[in-house]
Amino acid sequence: MQIFLIGLSGVGKTTLGKKLSEILDIDFFDMDEMIEKQNNMRIKDIFKNYGESRFRDLESELLFSLKDKEGIIATGGGVILNQKNRNFLKEKKSYFIYKDVAEIINNLETSHRPLLKDKNSLLNLWEERKDIYNEFEEINISGLNIQESTAKILNKIYIKEDVVIDKKIQNTVLKNKLDKDFFNKKIIISDDKFHNIFFSKYCGKNIFKIKDPEENKKMETVMDIIDFLIENDVDRSNTVEIYGGGATTDIAAFACSIYKRGIRYSLNPTTLLSQVDASIGGKNGVNYKKYKNIIENINIPEKTYINTNYIMSLDNDEYINGLIEIIKIFILTEQNIDLFLDKKEKIEKRKLNFMTDLIVKSIEKKLNFVSKDKTDKNIRMALNYGHTLGHAFESITNNKHGFSVAWGIKKENLISKKMGFLSEHDFNTINDLLKLYIDNEILNVELEKDELLKFLKKDKKNDSGKIKMPLLKKIGEFDFVEISPEEVVDLL
Ligand SMILES: NC(=O)c1ccc[n+]([C@@H]2O[C@H](COP(=O)([O-])OP(=O)(O)OC[C@H]3O[C@@H](n4cnc5c(N)ncnc54)[C@H](O)[C@@H]3O)[C@@H](O)[C@H]2O)c1
Repeated sequence: MQIFLIGLSGVGKTTLGKKLSEILDIDFFDMDEMIEKQNNMRIKDIFKNYGESRFRDLESELLFSLKDKEGIIATGGGVILNQKNRNFLKEKKSYFIYKDVAEIINNLETSHRPLLKDKNSLLNLWEERKDIYNEFEEINISGLNIQESTAKILNKIYIKEDVVIDKKIQNTVLKNKLDKDFFNKKIIISDDKFHNIFFSKYCGKNIFKIKDPEENKKMETVMDIIDFLIENDVDRSNTVEIYGGGATTDIAAFACSIYKRGIRYSLNPTTLLSQVDASIGGKNGVNYKKYKNIIENINIPEKTYINTNYIMSLDNDEYINGLIEIIKIFILTEQNIDLFLDKKEKIEKRKLNFMTDLIVKSIEKKLNFVSKDKTDKNIRMALNYGHTLGHAFESITNNKHGFSVAWGIKKENLISKKMGFLSEHDFNTINDLLKLYIDNEILNVELEKDELLKFLKKDKKNDSGKIKMPLLKKIGEFDFVEISPEEVVDLL
């Protein structure tokens, strides 16, 4: 793969190029830095000593010498001034990274940029060069942070052939691409933040956006979606495309499942948690009062598209949130979980190939449970591992789901150890693993037993006074125990 990033000084080509090369595990070349190294001189000194035209010659020479180099190449801001350079770049995969000029000026460091005497000179450069830049395919990153910009560029440059993950249980496809005129054709329900990052240009009557989806995970939003479906004359011949994290897919899939006795919908999960968990298995629903997911339904979507490019724009907490669900399903099903210790760097850097593999494996593992128990009355309930206490912790402390589940895993393992199932060794191995990704400040929280008891008594898995709790016997092996809420808190 060879990608040239072009655009004004200060747009972030170097930072973004480095991040992209890290995610894609390919080389990165910064042309300005290479010229400085080759000439043993800062660019501003080359300008001062030899003039701009000498610098432009050096720049062209370097550009042509890179013609067969694989990797991400950040060009200098003025590389496009020369017609020959432009012709060369047009034959290659080159993208114009655009950011609102006022926004660049706000964040600009001018000291090492010879053509920028002061910040406003960037405006002049923009006026002089904008028509030339516009000859190239644009990626607009205005208003986006580094993480979001990286993901948006990645989604343009990293396009793969579809790979079928599953056909039998839930039609699920790995799809790292988006067809271009998609938004003109379909009825879409989308997470607002996701939409603004990846598709800011597309807006229209056919799109229903959900802001702050967890806060809006309620019947009122479901009714608003039903109004939107009526207004758009949606019927059972249409397929609604749903984009978003677990909260959005839960709300929208629920609305689609009850509208006209159920219409077709596809899920495009956009958070790590929704890719490996919420979008898999057909569960959907909304919260009511303080009870999470108490209005619930199971309905397998028509299709599920997993685009792993999307996870690159998540902030760190959202990323870890999803990672914990991956760790959970591996603890339940694999005897060796060392990969989370050994490959921590790859995981933290979100290496695309590595993470895609992990995501696909997690989906396959979850679907394996779903295939044996579609209605979640039996073995699939093992996926609640860490969740009985995790949900109570989430409600009481308002911590994020994944962080709460990590706490729940630690505490439920303690119960398992005290009941004589889990060995000290496995107990410690899992705690060491959790500590790598979750702060001790969260993992070591102790809750009031009375408060915990109140929540456990309302647990959905609580039948005739006992909770059916999946407990770990050893890493990779679990069993269910019937245990009363009182016994649970006594064992903590
Ligand atoms: N149906 C199920 O089987 C199931 C399973 C697990 C969890 N859930 C539900 O899933 C929800 C949690 O899912 P979640 O963690 O995805 O929450 P979420 O949907 O609230 O998304 C988290 C945040 O990420 C933002 N976001 C979405 N995509 C993004 C992207 N690509 N880049 C940057 N930001 C993005 C959202 O705007 C939101 O602020 C809970 O409501 C939970 O009950 C359902």
